[in-house]
Parts: sequence; C-alpha cells; structure tokens
Amino acid sequence: MFPDGFIWGAATAAHQVEGGNVSSDCWALEHARPSFFREPSGDAVDQYHRFGEDVAILAGLGLRAYRFSIEWARIEPEEGFFSQAALDHYQRCIDACAAHGVLAALTFQHFTLPLWQARRGGFTDAGLADRFARFCDHAAGALRGFDIACTLNELNLPVMFGDSMIKDGADAEAVAKRLAAENVLGGSLQHFFLATPRRALVTNGVRAHRQARDAIKAHHPGVKVGVTLALQDEQAEPGAEALRDHRRADFYGAFLDAAAGDDFIGVQTYTRVIVRKDATFGPEPGHKLTTMGYEDRPQALAETCRYVWEQTRTPIIITENGWAGEDDARRAAFIREALTDVHAAIKSGVDIRGYFYWSLLDNYEWLLGYDQKFGLIAVDRATQRRTIKPSAAVLGGIARTNGL
Ligand code: BGC
Repeated sequence: MFPDGFIWGAATAAHQVEGGNVSSDCWALEHARPSFFREPSGDAVDQYHRFGEDVAILAGLGLRAYRFSIEWARIEPEEGFFSQAALDHYQRCIDACAAHGVLAALTFQHFTLPLWQARRGGFTDAGLADRFARFCDHAAGALRGFDIACTLNELNLPVMFGDSMIKDGADAEAVAKRLAAENVLGGSLQHFFLATPRRALVTNGVRAHRQARDAIKAHHPGVKVGVTLALQDEQAEPGAEALRDHRRADFYGAFLDAAAGDDFIGVQTYTRVIVRKDATFGPEPGHKLTTMGYEDRPQALAETCRYVWEQTRTPIIITENGWAGEDDARRAAFIREALTDVHAAIKSGVDIRGYFYWSLLDNYEWLLGYDQKFGLIAVDRATQRRTIKPSAAVLGGIARTNGL
C-alpha cells in the first residue's frame, strides 16, 4: 500500500489542451513563417470549453487530483490589464474539481508567456520576477479552493534540452526560422522560454519562483507551493562519474538548491541517460525507445526521486511522468513498473507524496505538434470526442486501491 493520503492524479498544461491561446508568445511563434513549431496549436483539445467533461472523466477513473495550468496570457493579455472573465473561468475549473472530489493543483506558468512579456525579454528581462509575482498575487488573490501550487514548470528545462528542441543552426532553413521568430519576439530568440540561457534562469527565474511563492502564500498560507523541475536519471558508465556529476551540477544543482526548503519539489522524469567516458550521452544502445526518442525506462523515476531526496531532503510530488507512443498496453505496464519502484523508494524512506501521470489527454507536444501520444485519453481532434484508453483504468485501479 502507498501511504495514506498519497495523491493520485494526472496533469496537463493550458497551452497544450485549451486551444486559442492567442495572446501568448507560443501562439505567435507557431504562426511565424517559417516556424520552429511543426504545426500550430489551434483549438488544441478545446479544454477551455470542456473542462467539466474532462475532470468528470478523471474522477470517474478513480483519480483524485488534477494538475492543470492557469494561463498568464489569458489573465493578463496586455500588461496591467487583468481579465476578470478569465479568472472567473479558472474559478469555475477549480469548482468543477471540487464538485468531483478532485484536488486542484495549479501551475502558474507552464512554458508560455504573454507575448508582451516575451517582447520585453521573457526570462532574460530583469523585471520578469516582479511582473510574474504581480500576476501571481492577482491570480492567487482572486482564486479560491486549490490545494497545490506549482509556480514555474521545469524552470531548468532550457539548460537541459533547449538546443535540441529548437534545432537552431546555421543552415538556411534554421536561420529563416530564427529570423521569423525574432521578428515575433521583437528581439533575440532567447526571449522564448525554451531558449533561455542558464544565467537568466538561475537569476531571474529563481527570483520569479521565490517571489511567486511568497505572493501565493500570502493569500493562501495552507496551500503547498513548489517549483517543478525536469530531471533525468543520470547514470555514469564506469569512469564517467565526474562527467555525470558535472552534468548534474549544471542541469540541476542551482535549481535544486533554490527549491530545497519549499513545501515540495515537483519531480518530472521521463527517462534515463547514460553518461559515457567520451563525454557523449544518451540511451543505452539497443534499448527500446519511446516515440519521443527517450529510453523506455520506468525505473528512471524512482532513481531520480532518490537523487532529489538525497540532495534536498524536501518532500517530493511527482508532478509528471509518462510514456509516449501508440502501444497503450506498454503505457499501462510502464506506469505499473514505475510505481512499483516508487513504492519501494517510499518504503526505504524517500518522502514522495503523490504521482501525477503526464498526460490526462493526448495533446499539443510543443514544437513537435500533435503526433506524440502521452495521454490516458485519446482525442479525435475533428470532433473533440474523448476515448478512454485501457491504461487509464490501470492507473485508476491503482489509485482506487492505493496499492499495486
Ligand atoms: C513538460 C510537458 C511536456 C512533457 C512531455 C514536460 O517537459 O512539462 O509540457 O508535454 O514534458 O514531453
């Protein structure tokens, strides 16, 4: 059995599911010509109008928590203008959770920025922290009834993945995409979150997290507040330990330090990476991969939780973990295997308080568009019809019994 009160849920992010996020930087970048994004998000899976339906399905599965994000670009579409209608919308979402007995875990920023903030420099702008905290103050002051708050999603992700995601380069196509993006952003590509340099994340980003945490806590002292981080299980082949430690220090060190002492750290882990002596890294050769190109390695999650616990002694909530691909039986097995090891980690003293599967629904995988299928629920985007996959029932069964 998992500990009493263990939180069982699934996660999404506004831009990936809502549709029509027209005041955000991503929307503008998706419509730049040419674009780094494979396709625009468009109507996504229209959760803006179907939140009630989705949370009813989640609850029906036996899950008791939903992590979703409130969209800064909708709530403050122009600097200093706060939309009461958008805040009312998110209050109705929280109320829908409560009506189904589902805990609401709100993320205050999940990759996207209002286009106006991106044009000011995004995370490279020294004013980011104050403006984000002002937004959090406004939103947290208006919203009631949520239980968990994630300030920023995967603050460290650009350090780990930025280059490979955006595929910036010197060839004509990449240059044309960069110029089109810079035109939208009114400046450097670095104004886009996923291209933010490390320096700006550890200064402006960490400050934004701290100020946001304080702003949310000021309104809701009882809400658990933390930041989520992108973490991989970094394993060294013999002789590569120092290189691995260097990667860990670079990708995670400053961010874990910043999160230590918060109510929780949000661990988001999808895979393992082998660090080799020749300074290359990647999946183990010959190992099965997911459609994301990640090593299919459910054990990576618990290993990463152990590492985070050793480093920080701060309670962990697994705010994302998931498997991308069409083979839903494999997804179900992946979930079960990941949770088997998480259970063992808890037994050995690692303080893990909850598990959110990524994702509740198949959705918009950022630059990769709609091909990647992480969801427990499939969506026919022509009709927006939802179809529950068998893996959803597997996770729901584990949640209902609080055991494997
Ligand atoms: C992000 C999600 C994303 C997921 C799967 C995480 O990096 O928080 O937005 O869809 O991984 O790639």
